[in-house]
Amino acid sequence: MKTAKEIQDTVKELFEKESFIQQPKELYDPIDYTLALGGKRLRPTLLLASCEMFGGDICLAASAAVGIEVFHNFTLLHDDLMDKSPLRRGKETVYRRWNENIAILSGDTMFALAYRYFLRQWHPNMEAILKTFTETAIGVCDGQQYDMNFESQSDVSIADYMKMIELKTAILLAGAMKIGALYAEASEKDIDTLYRAGISIGLAFQLQDDLLDAYGDVAVFGKQTGTDIKDNKKTYLYLKALQDADSTQQQTLRQLFATTPENPEEKIKTVIGIYNQLNIKQKVEQEIDRLFDEGQKLINAISVGEERKTTLKQIINQLLGRKI
Ligand code: IPE
Ligand code: IPE
Ligand code: MG
Ligand code: MG
Ligand code: MG
Repeated sequence: MKTAKEIQDTVKELFEKESFIQQPKELYDPIDYTLALGGKRLRPTLLLASCEMFGGDICLAASAAVGIEVFHNFTLLHDDLMDKSPLRRGKETVYRRWNENIAILSGDTMFALAYRYFLRQWHPNMEAILKTFTETAIGVCDGQQYDMNFESQSDVSIADYMKMIELKTAILLAGAMKIGALYAEASEKDIDTLYRAGISIGLAFQLQDDLLDAYGDVAVFGKQTGTDIKDNKKTYLYLKALQDADSTQQQTLRQLFATTPENPEEKIKTVIGIYNQLNIKQKVEQEIDRLFDEGQKLINAISVGEERKTTLKQIINQLLGRKI
């Protein structure tokens, strides 16, 4: 049974072995740049840990693990363009360092490269694996569109938001776990339970990302903070604040989230001021804990021995305290 550290090291080695440098360099240099920056590599780690939990051979799942990370990085290239974000993993985003067209085409290529990785190694469950990956990819795009729609929509509910983040974020974490389990040929029932655990954990993960966007330390987080407020993103923080605010605070929030000032510093400061008055940070943390708990309980219900679950649980627990 591999430890969390061993799984993480395996993922690291897989990427050290891969070269993304090719011609035309204008297309592939940004791909190499992005993948070399690493990030947490959470999705391949979850994929391999899920495979390992069910006693599968992680060598068979290795190229799918690379594929899922390449896909994730494609979404980041396009997401940074859509969110107008200047920083990713502490470095300039691709559309800023190169240009918008490069971010689009390098991203598109990464989407196709992801399939190439999936197809590299055949498996009896290949059809289910590719179906899961394909439906996940479509869902992520659906979620990204809702995220963009909500920027200019004023009547977003917390339920709308949760559905949106389930699509844009949670299904990729859950999908990675399901794919790992498919490589291990786990039972349908266990795969379903694991998938539901992945959804809860994925929702918690995005809530934490939203929290870090407002309260994170740029030097650690590697992304510019305050961008969700600048972009009028209807995050859980904003929606919870609206719910708990008095009428004056509500009016200020609504007004500020209907504007996009040239210099957003003042707007960000005022919004975070209201969040602080309403203890939003603590309230979001409570919701994150609740969702993580829900995920843990589902993993507990999976029909493999407790000792086989420790690695996956450890990886998930590391996420709970993430600052990056
Ligand atoms: C960023 O994902 C996008 C979200 C879904 C919040 P990660 O936080 O996993 O980013 P990296 O890959 O570690 O940089
Ligand atoms: C992430 O949402 C969803 C993706 C599909 C990339 P965010 O827009 O919050 O991600 P970050 O904060 O830019 O990484
Ligand atoms: Mg973004
Ligand atoms: Mg976004
Ligand atoms: Mg974010």
